[in-house]
Formats: sequence, structure tokens, C-alpha cells
Amino acid sequence: MATPTASTKLLLSDLASTVQNVPSNYIRPINDRPNLTQVEVSDASSIPLIDLDGLYGPRHSEIIQQIGLACQHDGFFQVKNHGVPEETINIMLNTARRFFKLPESERLKSYSDDPSKTTRLSTSFNVKTEKVANWRDFLRLHCYPLERYVHEWPTNPPSFREDVAEYCTSIRGLVLRLLEAISESLGLQRDYIDKSLGKHAQHMALNYYPPCPQPELTYGLPGHTDPNLITILLQDDVPGLQVLRNDKWVAVNPIPNTFIINIGDQMQVLSNDRYQSVLHRAVVNCDKERISIPTFYCPSPDALIGPAKELIDHNHPAAYTDFTYAEYYEKFWKRGLETDCCLDMFKTSNTASSF
Ligand code: OGA
Ligand code: NI
Repeated sequence: MATPTASTKLLLSDLASTVQNVPSNYIRPINDRPNLTQVEVSDASSIPLIDLDGLYGPRHSEIIQQIGLACQHDGFFQVKNHGVPEETINIMLNTARRFFKLPESERLKSYSDDPSKTTRLSTSFNVKTEKVANWRDFLRLHCYPLERYVHEWPTNPPSFREDVAEYCTSIRGLVLRLLEAISESLGLQRDYIDKSLGKHAQHMALNYYPPCPQPELTYGLPGHTDPNLITILLQDDVPGLQVLRNDKWVAVNPIPNTFIINIGDQMQVLSNDRYQSVLHRAVVNCDKERISIPTFYCPSPDALIGPAKELIDHNHPAAYTDFTYAEYYEKFWKRGLETDCCLDMFKTSNTASSF
């Protein structure tokens, strides 16, 4: 059979089930493939699981300490007893599933390849700039302040706006609790991070990874760090997320009712490199579609970001120059996921000693 080539379909969902081989524009060069047999499976000790029950009670300092250690050593942790109702989570996952099952013509109403759009359905990562495509479709929504964006969102499934708004509000509550805890873990005032984000911003993606006939040849998303402050990831019950630890990719298998939290580039800057924005990726599989729903919490575009003054001293000189989040974010989308993290572009010449 001839190798399939570029498709006339805009979305992968409408192509994936019709091909027996991965089309050539999705195939990675040999030195940039997932090597799935070499991936380690996470056990309880690899990515910390933190129980947030008692954060405002007797376990306060224990939890702050666990969060601080996880941010410093892992850049990733999972949380349970996080305060987001199970029903809200299930409705969100179902809404995403139903959205991606809509007829092509209905889904395409939200399609755009312009990353500056605040509501858009697209595919891969940035179809305008990338050389190799990724095995993913995604609906990206800005979601804070809600009233500014909710009228742009899809109206199909009919309860989409109401259900997703409920999820966003509940997740924002969790983020604000985590930001207080993380500020405290850095020895900063509890409201330090909150105050440094300007008017705040919250985006989310509904990621849809169709089954893939040759998962060894391509990625759902190649290795990257998240450009925002902190990410709260909800995944369904199909594995796919992998995190780089000690130079090895580790699979983070789903635990129902937990969120995966990861430190983004802006937190690494604020903490003056004490907390780490760690490389992660999404791989695909032959059998099952996968849905993941990351919430990206961000500074507002005008917020001036730099290392906290309290974390700069003789042994830890400022590792970054100050910049606006708008400057950073633009570089991220332009540069794509193919190269190293954008943080290097904002580094000072200081060589900070490690913590
Ligand atoms: C992302 C991401 C991981 C996943 O969207 O930034 O890292 O499991 N997603 O989908
Ligand atoms: Ni990510």
C-alpha cells in the first residue's frame, strides 16, 4: 500500500479512522521517536501523590512541606481530596467526549489555525509553523474572567457552556489554594504569587488523541515544558502522559479523581530556579482514544514577571531578566515545541548556584 500523504481533512479525528498507516507528515525522524519499550511505569514513589485534606487544619505545615519538596525535586505532583467535586470532573470528561463525537461540520464551526484566538478548535500544535504534525486535536478556551469569554464557546453539546464554566470555576478555586501553599513553601507572603500575576488569566485545552495505527512513529505532544505558571491536568483512564525524570521518560498512569499538577516556566522564573518546569510529553496508542484536559493558569499578558526579590541573594543571583508575560507567550507559540524551552531566552548571564 502506498504511504498516505497530507490529508484534505482539517482535523485529525476525521482522518485517523480512515488510515492504516501514519501519514508521512506525522512521522518523526528516527532519532526523535517515543521508544515506548524503554519507558518506565510510575509506581507510588515516582510522582508524589499529595493528600490536600487538612490543608487548613492540622496537616497544614506537613502539606506545605510536601508541596515544596515536590516542586523542587519533581516539578510534578498529583493531588487528591482537592475540593473539586467528582461529579464536576465526570461531567467535564463527558462533555469533552461528546464534543469530539459531534459531526465534522458541527466541530468545524470552532476551527481556527490562529493561536491568538481566544476560543478555537485546532489540530497538532501550531499548524502554521511546525514541520511535523502531532497526533492530537484540541479545543482551546480562555476561561477567566468567564463573562468575557463564555459567549464565544461552543453551544453544542447544549450544556457545554454551563458545564465547562462550572468546572473552570471549581478548578480556579483549587489553583488559588495551591498558589497560596506554593508561596508559603517558598517562604513568601501567602498572597505573593497571586499579586504577581496582574489580573490573572486561565486557559484550558480539551485534548483529543485518536487511536493511532503506529504509535512508535509519532507523538500526541512531543516533549515540552508548559509556558504558563502552573498546570492542572485532568486525564481520563487511558495512559499517555510521560514525565522526564533522571533522563528517563516515566509514564504517569491515571488515578481516578486526582489531578496532576505541574510547575510551568513562569513559576520557575518567580522562584528563581528553585522550582522546576519539567519536560513532559503525551504518547498515543493503537487501541483507545484518550482525552486530557489541562488548565493553564497564567499571569495576565501585561504582568511583569521576574524572580521574587526575596529569593535573590549573593548565592542566588537573579537568573532571569524581567519580562512581560505577553512577550514570553508570543515567543512560545512562534518557536513551537521542537526546540528547547523558551526560558533560556530570558536568562541573565548570572550562573546561579543550585539550591
Ligand atoms: C499539554 C500537555 C499532556 C497530556 O497540553 O501541555 O502536556 O497528557 N498535555 O495531554
Ligand atoms: Ni504540557
